[in-house]
Amino acid sequence: MGIVLVHTTVSLDGFIAGPGEDMDWVFELGSHVPAEIVQDVIVTTGAILAGRHSYDVGRRARRPEVSKPFGGAWSGPQFVLTHDPPDDERDPTIAFLSGDVETAIATARAAAGDRNVLVLGANVVDQCLEAGLVDEILIHLYPVLLGDGARLFGARRSRRIDLEPIAITRSGPLANLRYRVVR
Ligand SMILES: NC(=O)c1ccc[n+]([C@@H]2O[C@H](COP(=O)([O-])OP(=O)(O)OC[C@H]3O[C@@H](n4cnc5c(N)ncnc54)[C@H](OP(=O)(O)O)[C@@H]3O)[C@@H](O)[C@H]2O)c1
Repeated sequence: MGIVLVHTTVSLDGFIAGPGEDMDWVFELGSHVPAEIVQDVIVTTGAILAGRHSYDVGRRARRPEVSKPFGGAWSGPQFVLTHDPPDDERDPTIAFLSGDVETAIATARAAAGDRNVLVLGANVVDQCLEAGLVDEILIHLYPVLLGDGARLFGARRSRRIDLEPIAITRSGPLANLRYRVVR
């Protein structure tokens, strides 16, 4: 069975998007994310679970790097958590879910088969962490202080969560950090 993986780019002050949902910092700084890391995530991902906000940002985006998972290099079942599903989504690979995150992860796991479930969106990541559903966290840490925006790990937590480093590498200005959640 695959794992539940959080994979995201993060500013040094902990934001995955800047003010006004800004993602331009990722492109301004250039992608120094090692291709082998990205390729590994692409081939091991069987399904994506995203929050409605991430979905909306993707829908509005002009850049294909933001509008499609991995710029279109990945395709597969995508589940979007929302209380108010849109009625104009035409992509048959996108389904909308509501309710508890445990059920959403179980649905995504079933669709992913032997591969991983990738979780996108700070709010959904926080819910999955709180519910003890995250197995690994892969972060590309960008050397910028955004000051405001969507904060990763922003929610208050009911308990401490320990992480075991799997791989810590540097590529250009980026620190690439992969951790396993200690059970
Ligand atoms: N840097 C990166 O690599 C990266 C990756 C992904 C996203 N992002 C950015 O992150 C931001 C999005 O993160 P976010 O934390 O703001 O939002 P999010 O996690 O994407 O979405 C949160 C929303 O999902 C819906 N939702 C969550 N849990 C639910 C549940 N259990 N049942 C029903 N609906 C549920 C709710 O929307 P409703 O109540 O409105 O339905 C909630 O407000 C965007 O700016 C995006 O661009 C960055």
